[in-house]
Amino acid sequence: MNAPSAPEPIAFIDLAAQKKRIGPQVEAAIARVLEHGQYIMGPEVKAFEAQLGEFCGAKHVVSCASGTDALALVLMAKGVRTGDAILCPSFTFCATAEVVAWLGATPIFVDSDPQTFNMSIESLKQGLATARGLGLKPVGVIPVDLFGLAADYEAILALADAEGIWVMSDAAQSFGASVKGRKVGTFGLATATSFFPAKPLGCYGDGGAILTDDADLAAILRSLRVHGQGSDKYDNVRIGMTARLDTIQAAILIEKLAVFADEIEARNRAATRYSAALADACVVPFVPADHVSVWAQYTLLVDPELRDAIAATLKAAGVPTAVYYPMPLHKQVAYRHYPVAGNGLPVSEDLCRRVLSLPMHPYLTDEVQDRVIAAVRAAVG
Ligand SMILES: Cc1ncc(COP(=O)(O)O)c(C=O)c1O
Repeated sequence: MNAPSAPEPIAFIDLAAQKKRIGPQVEAAIARVLEHGQYIMGPEVKAFEAQLGEFCGAKHVVSCASGTDALALVLMAKGVRTGDAILCPSFTFCATAEVVAWLGATPIFVDSDPQTFNMSIESLKQGLATARGLGLKPVGVIPVDLFGLAADYEAILALADAEGIWVMSDAAQSFGASVKGRKVGTFGLATATSFFPAKPLGCYGDGGAILTDDADLAAILRSLRVHGQGSDKYDNVRIGMTARLDTIQAAILIEKLAVFADEIEARNRAATRYSAALADACVVPFVPADHVSVWAQYTLLVDPELRDAIAATLKAAGVPTAVYYPMPLHKQVAYRHYPVAGNGLPVSEDLCRRVLSLPMHPYLTDEVQDRVIAAVRAAVG
């Protein structure tokens, strides 16, 4: 007798389905770059920057080599240094705090809101007091738009204005999201985003961009991404780095941006469908009124005692899951000596124990999604 065949595995993020849709356009775009041969700062880089600015409403776009570089370049441009404190969440990817440490400044870890998973305003206030209590100078805050949902910029910007500090948005996961119709890329001093392949707008390698309405900042960023160049390549007016977006990646991104609005709608349809089918069985993501998420992740909260078993049951049913993030930054070996806001970050720690992300991408068919839903219901049941 034949053993029953294992269920066909579902993709967590299906880049192959997207390639089926725009593969020929992407291949033609790459071929055009191979033809003209301007691999560094070729015409596609400028064209992509213009299109990205048009898409989100930012006046200036400086593309760069990664989301991490995008964050770092802004800190370099602001002259961040030892003695400065930058407030950032602990429940995020390490790059948000890593760039602060690169420059010898001190990341102060702030707790998250239990519903949105984004920066808690109360904890941010406590973090400012913590920084000052340690004799550090708070200069900026880096809210992260976790899993594709914009942070509470209205409250953060009001507080930052009152405190005289700048806001840089870490929108590595959220480019394309909006609040009251205003797109991510237009909040605060600057926005850093990533085009890592798994991001909602991803390229086929590493890439990133900074969006800002500040012309002077944009000019410094353009210089910093090419070794601090001045009027020409061999005029060096500041210490910079090599942080350009490859022309081939820009060419790919132009084709991906052409279908991005449609993909955001598809992601939202899929998320709405998940939530309608799962809300009575587990804690589904919360989206505040007037926010449109880009659903970099669709993340449930489950019983921490059962999470491993739920993930294993889903895996056996061919449904991949992921835990973003298993440990908050303030508990990580590389970061645990940095200060935390107030008396600790209980929400971040709790979220790390309970989050479980499901397959999410714009090409999730109803049929595949129904398999995920049935498997989740059975696993949490
Ligand atoms: C919140 C956050 N910040 C920064 C980054 C860094 O982006 P990149 O991988 O392009 O350097 C990421 C990407 O994983 C991220 O999720």
